[in-house]
Amino acid sequence: MGIYAITGSATGIGAALRSQLKKQGHEVIGIDIKDADISADLSTPEGRNQALEGVNARAGAGLDGFIPCAGVGPQFEPFSATVSLNFYGSVDLALGLKNLLALKKGAVVMITSNSAPLPGLNPDLVESMLTHDEAKTRELILTLDDGHQAYAGSKLAIARWTRRNAPAWAKDGVRLNAVAPGVTQTPLLQAGLDHPHWGKAIRSFPIPMGDPAQPEQIASVIAFLLSPEAAFCCGSIFFVDGGSDAVIRPDRF
Ligand code: NAI
Repeated sequence: MGIYAITGSATGIGAALRSQLKKQGHEVIGIDIKDADISADLSTPEGRNQALEGVNARAGAGLDGFIPCAGVGPQFEPFSATVSLNFYGSVDLALGLKNLLALKKGAVVMITSNSAPLPGLNPDLVESMLTHDEAKTRELILTLDDGHQAYAGSKLAIARWTRRNAPAWAKDGVRLNAVAPGVTQTPLLQAGLDHPHWGKAIRSFPIPMGDPAQPEQIASVIAFLLSPEAAFCCGSIFFVDGGSDAVIRPDRF
């Protein structure tokens, strides 16, 4: 059986994935700011180092998979923490665990969002993440002062980072893919729904399949991407959003 590291393992999609992998008999190392095997604030460089040290101590022989689910939504403030957690908290851990993943020919599933392709995102903000300049990203988002830019911008940067890096990572034996969830019933979504501005925006999002997803429905696709059945999936962005993206941009392919 394998050994997997998941951030954001305490609630929502990360927690659902944790229990699915455990049910399959795998060992799971949960990393979160609360209720986890490794407690760390991934919005800070210190917390990320702490998490990396913790995983190295527990999985020195290698990792079969890494899934960075920790994230906050557009309503979260300060926005500088949103970009630091959502982008750098995911990418820095993936980079830091790459050697352990290569030892076991492992797989990474990044978490983007179906809001990543929405129009109007600030190109400088996204580029600052792709050039890995955290100080500049934090400065830019405080100037933009916009939760949508912070959230969807960090998710677009994750999608592009995944596409740009998947070919080289494949050569090192690590499969890199991403899932783009749509509206999913988790504490993150509930915080958005409870917000006076974001609640209205989220409720107006079209979902052809009807209701929001349950976290288990997103976790199942992540579990598939981690499995040997997905051995030829590389650099893919899987939309698991009940058809929202198909409504919003049917011809952008
Ligand atoms: P959630 O709120 O249930 O889970 C997020 C987890 O991250 C929690 O366990 C929380 O404690 C942890 N976390 C928060 N701040 C942290 C920090 N500073 N350091 C370490 N851990 C921290 O949310 P959900 O919905 O399960 O989100 C998982 C991922 O899915 C996120 O990246 C989110 O952006 C993404 N997503 C969620 C959607 C939704 O509708 N729920 C839609 C699209 C993407």
